[in-house]
Amino acid sequence: MPDRLARYETKLRQLQQKGRWRVLTGPGGIDFTSNDYLALAGSPRLTAGAIAALERGVPVGAGGSRLLRGNHAEHEALEAEAAAFFRSERMLYFGSGYAANLAVLSTLPQRGDIVAHDALVHASAHAGMAMGRAEAISVPHNNADAFDDAISRWRKAGGTGHPWIVVESLYSMDGDKAPLPDLAELANRHDGFLVIDEAHATGVHGAGGRGLAEELEGRENVVVLHTCGKALGASGALVGASRVLCDYLVNRASPFIYATAPSPLQAASVRQALNVVAAEPERREKLQDLVAFANRLVADRLGFAGSGSQILPVIIGDNRCAMQIAERMQADGFDIRAIRPPTVPKGTARLRIAITLNVDAPTIVRMVERLAQVMAEERP
Ligand SMILES: Cc1ncc(COP(=O)(O)O)c(C=O)c1O
Repeated sequence: MPDRLARYETKLRQLQQKGRWRVLTGPGGIDFTSNDYLALAGSPRLTAGAIAALERGVPVGAGGSRLLRGNHAEHEALEAEAAAFFRSERMLYFGSGYAANLAVLSTLPQRGDIVAHDALVHASAHAGMAMGRAEAISVPHNNADAFDDAISRWRKAGGTGHPWIVVESLYSMDGDKAPLPDLAELANRHDGFLVIDEAHATGVHGAGGRGLAEELEGRENVVVLHTCGKALGASGALVGASRVLCDYLVNRASPFIYATAPSPLQAASVRQALNVVAAEPERREKLQDLVAFANRLVADRLGFAGSGSQILPVIIGDNRCAMQIAERMQADGFDIRAIRPPTVPKGTARLRIAITLNVDAPTIVRMVERLAQVMAEERP
């Protein structure tokens, strides 16, 4: 009998050989990697909000599922305020964006529907689709015509249900934006739904920081996911949808039903973060200036087109080379991480540089200058 653990060790060795071995490391150095775009996570505003919430008796733990004793006034207050802020008919608060995607995509598309998803959607969307009852197909990245073709082909082949178009408004590893107006038109024309993951746009993009889908949110056939652990600096995710779809999730989505409700304290922190986003547009404006500056610099000094957003992918290609460059940057005090397959497509290992309010323009200049040197040495 082989050792019980040997098969895992063999697989881990294989990952190591492919340059895909992952280990946990703490945050260290200057932040060019977090999703804390508005520098809210450790801010005095959220800290004070959490202390005030504790002082008014908001509990740390919910103690049960939302459907049992875990439904707290703080969850309901957050959902009502967020629905007004995002102009959604209703909102539901989940413990994480992962759980929210899992719930939406495993529950709402029905047998006989088709789920057409962008090739680059997040792992949590894949998990939801794999758990669901509808057939799922991958569509080339950011290609509205390809969505149209795929759905038309499915209809011609006898598809009778409703199509679901699943995208991110701002892609997490590429920083580019989805053609949302075209996709919304397609969803209408094909009698379907559009699911928009706003994880990296919420709080940063769109009028008032309401995200890139802010003009579509509230439509009957649009479902929007706002994660709360990125620009909002807390954790969890808000799903905005029609009343009937939210009721359906409450009744049928196992990640919602069979999980302890999110911490009421976190719900209070998200309320506070939404207040900051609404009341302090200057944070967003300052970030947009830094982002424009960083995009220009990356284009000039590194020869990369720049994504136009706060997520700047520097594609290296080879896994080990990407790791080597990231490690050298970390050793120099810049927290830059390499992202490798399967998180990104094979052969596109990259540095994912995130611009946040945790850095200023001179620091971005120092980082890009150093990166240009290290890249020249590692990729002669
Ligand atoms: C596009 C996208 N959707 C969903 C998630 C999951 O959100 P959370 O971290 O809140 O689980 C992430 C997180 O990385 C993401 O990038």
